[in-house]
Amino acid sequence: GEQMDYEFIRVARDQAVGIITLHRPEVLNALNLKLVDELVEALENMDRDDSVRTIVLTGNEKAFAAGADIDEMADETAISMLLKDQFTVWDRIATINKPIIAAVSGYVLGGGCELMMNCDIVIASETTKIGQPEINLGVMPGAGGTQRLTKMVGKVKAMEMLLTGSPISAEEALRYGLVNKVVPVEMYLQEAVTLAKKIAAKPPLAVRLIKKSVLKAIDNPLSEGLAYERNCFYLLFASEDQTEGMRAFVEKRKPKFTGR
Ligand code: HXC
Repeated sequence: GEQMDYEFIRVARDQAVGIITLHRPEVLNALNLKLVDELVEALENMDRDDSVRTIVLTGNEKAFAAGADIDEMADETAISMLLKDQFTVWDRIATINKPIIAAVSGYVLGGGCELMMNCDIVIASETTKIGQPEINLGVMPGAGGTQRLTKMVGKVKAMEMLLTGSPISAEEALRYGLVNKVVPVEMYLQEAVTLAKKIAAKPPLAVRLIKKSVLKAIDNPLSEGLAYERNCFYLLFASEDQTEGMRAFVEKRKPKFTGR
């Protein structure tokens, strides 16, 4: 449930929107192992909860997350990292069925950027700084940074960001398609929740299969993605919401979707 006692995150609800707030403000929301475990658990709980339709993931004004917890990693060895295999849990974030809308502000660095790129839509405040600074620590991204960033912004911009480690501004991120919208800092969370509510009112089965189909486009050849899309499209004709949605159009009234 939602009233679980988490140490490093907070969970809340606003109608059909589940809100997860990263909460380690004293270290700019550095992502330690426990925080990521709690985050994945909260996401999976919301994914199972039929009354939650969309999820907003946020931090605070100063930081969405300044990366993996460097103190926690500083004394690791290759073998201890291999045995701990701490980044495997990140793969579960990509399997969440419901749309995740990131509301980011301030530092979005390293693992914070990788986490943001696992979200489906991103609303950023004007003060957002996005980067992959791992190179400055003698390492490199380990939770998808080299792969997802390249697919999102293209080769040359990804190379620049990954090899210099310098963050880019919200405006630049917008230009490169890394975020959907940039708003004043007082508004970023509200803007994300408003968008989440809009999507929460859509027929949930269509929402689910659209998300899955878009993700298919990222790591499959076009022909496979198209075949997957077509099957999903046909499948939705088994839903009551398809009957209702099309009937409502024909009858010139608003549809009432049930998620069946
Ligand atoms: C642990 C961190 C941290 C991090 C900040 N802090 N980022 N602790 N891990 N990633 C802590 C600082 O040590 C400090 O704690 C407190 O947060 C405030 O940070 P300051 O540095 O004092 O703030 P400021 O001078 O404003 O600088 C902000 C900053 C800087 C530019 C964001 O903190 C910074 O460079 N952080 C590291 C960013 C980074 O390299 N991220 C990538 C991590 S590697 P104290 O106790 O001193 O007050 C990574 C690998 C991903 O993410 C692999 C997959 C997950």
